[in-house]
Amino acid sequence: MLKEVDATRFITPLREGGSLPGLVEADDFGTYVLKFAGAGQGRKTLVAEVVCGELARRLGLRVPRLVTIGLDPVLGLGEPEEQVQELLRSSGGANLGMDFLSGALGFDPLAFPVDAREAGRIVWFDALVNNVDRSWRNPNLLRWRGELWLIDHGATMIWHHNWPGAEASAARPYDAADHALARFGPEVAAAAAELAPLVTEDLLAEVTAEVPDVWLDGEPGFDTPDDLRRAYARPLLARAAVIHERVSGLEGAK
Ligand SMILES: Nc1ncnc2c1ncn2[C@@H]1O[C@H](COP(=O)(O)OP(=O)(O)O)[C@@H](O)[C@H]1O
Ligand SMILES: [Mg+2]
Repeated sequence: MLKEVDATRFITPLREGGSLPGLVEADDFGTYVLKFAGAGQGRKTLVAEVVCGELARRLGLRVPRLVTIGLDPVLGLGEPEEQVQELLRSSGGANLGMDFLSGALGFDPLAFPVDAREAGRIVWFDALVNNVDRSWRNPNLLRWRGELWLIDHGATMIWHHNWPGAEASAARPYDAADHALARFGPEVAAAAAELAPLVTEDLLAEVTAEVPDVWLDGEPGFDTPDDLRRAYARPLLARAAVIHERVSGLEGAK
């Protein structure tokens, strides 16, 4: 289970990406990036963050620690901006938090070379979860203490927006042409040989168990949160076996 903390202070909204996460302080004295349950795609974004973040971590990729953050909408009363106030107001209860990597730099592919093995692992992982949000325009990679960290897995697993078509959707290939690491000659086949055997039913059960029930409850077509957890696991298990043969766009990448 993810650690649970309560927000004690809203520090500031973070503006780089699209979704307007917030920076908060919590009752364990930690500083966290908070993703609002009440934001646009809401709970599905948070589920994707947990499933992919916890899976990536177990595959040996670096992802900041995830927690759930209880939010009392009263914290937003002093916020000058209407948009932020609205998010705070609509996000009572559990939100997603991520350790704030203080002093991290946004990844710049021109300034930081990445070795082909590491690039291969990250591209393979992104292909597995169908991450469309790691392009050179918007890498969602941070450089912290000399190493690469993965953030922002909200736009993955597109199939979870349409469960009846999930199997067909998850059978599709992955286009890596715009991937932030395409230029580093990612060794995707080597990464698949190393990582695909780790993506087992047990591992996926462990990963999906980390998602709080409140973000899974009430999904049409599913009786229980555990049924939905299994639905998250299935396409990933199927893709793990084959996706390395279905990554396009890396030929001639530089
Ligand atoms: N754990 C973190 N540590 C430090 N900075 C972060 C962290 N998570 C996000 N950020 C910063 O906040 C920005 C927005 O966060 P992100 O998760 O990419 O959300 P979105 O793109 O949906 O707005 C990032 O581009 C990064 O600059
Ligand atoms: Mg982002």
